[in-house]
Amino acid sequence: METIQTSREQIDLERRRVAEHYEHDPEIFRMVLGARRAYSTAIWSQADDTLDTAQERKCQSIAARLSLAPGERVLDVGCGWGSVLLYLAKKHPEVSFDALTLSQKQRDEVSRLAIEGGVSEKIRLILEHFETAPLTEGSYDAIYFVGSIVHMKHREAVLSRAAKLLKPGGRLFISDCYFPVQERGDRDSRANRYILHEVLGYCQLRPLSEELLDIERNGLDILHVQDLTASYVKTVDAWIDNIRKHRAEINARAPGFAHILQSYITVGRRSFHQRTALEYMLVAQKSGPLSRRIDPSYWPVL
Ligand SMILES: C[S@@+](CC[C@H](N)C(=O)[O-])C[C@H]1O[C@@H](n2cnc3c(N)ncnc32)[C@H](O)[C@@H]1O
Repeated sequence: METIQTSREQIDLERRRVAEHYEHDPEIFRMVLGARRAYSTAIWSQADDTLDTAQERKCQSIAARLSLAPGERVLDVGCGWGSVLLYLAKKHPEVSFDALTLSQKQRDEVSRLAIEGGVSEKIRLILEHFETAPLTEGSYDAIYFVGSIVHMKHREAVLSRAAKLLKPGGRLFISDCYFPVQERGDRDSRANRYILHEVLGYCQLRPLSEELLDIERNGLDILHVQDLTASYVKTVDAWIDNIRKHRAEINARAPGFAHILQSYITVGRRSFHQRTALEYMLVAQKSGPLSRRIDPSYWPVL
């Protein structure tokens, strides 16, 4: 359980403990999370959506919000198994990507998929924590965190670094879980502690307003915020169905892991269903010349 940590100890704890969850056999996560192994909410909007079509819509929506142009440089913080990264790299042949993960297994898998997909030359995979990774200030046109910022305790420092890494006019996209400002229910329950600090290694949900304030304080303007809590409930329903369907195969690869996954996701689902936890995506832009501003009125209505 968490004790008082120095910044350095906290970073080491995140590096070690968060990576553990992602070091399981990637095939398990394909069975549970679907074709892209996207470990974040999908966007459901049609009656006949499947997990894969809803995840495809999420990727489309991120691409629209980042509005990438040829020659731009992008940083994916927490690329997982490359769900968004590989989508964007294939969609934008003239854009280059740096991608961070804490998991060697994820890095190897994404590297394999990038070669298979013919996009490996545009992608630099970095096995490093965001706070300590060797990255150049003012060098990125877009930075996104999809399901990853929740693993980072030093949010002020993380958002300040992201702002410094962006060029003027650069875009920041975040998709993640938050707590409402008003405390609803016991946030420090055994079940929550088990999920946030054991199964997932380290996770910290905060109110969205605190996140937005840190973003604004670092010189970015908030362009758009969208609540995806209902979509997240549908996403985890699909994950739970997949765990049930593949229980024997998951347990054959990692004995007992199907039960851990199903119980943590089921407990988490209850929080989002009752809105004691919330899911948002947001877009912000570093202040810059007017010509570099992106216009949300061009984004698809979901
Ligand atoms: C829930 S997964 C999301 C993966 C992917 N973005 C997606 O949506 O499918 C979280 C990812 O963030 C990475 N991660 C977590 N904390 C990180 C940190 N401090 N620095 C770099 N990567 C981190 C993990 O290694 C993992 O790849």
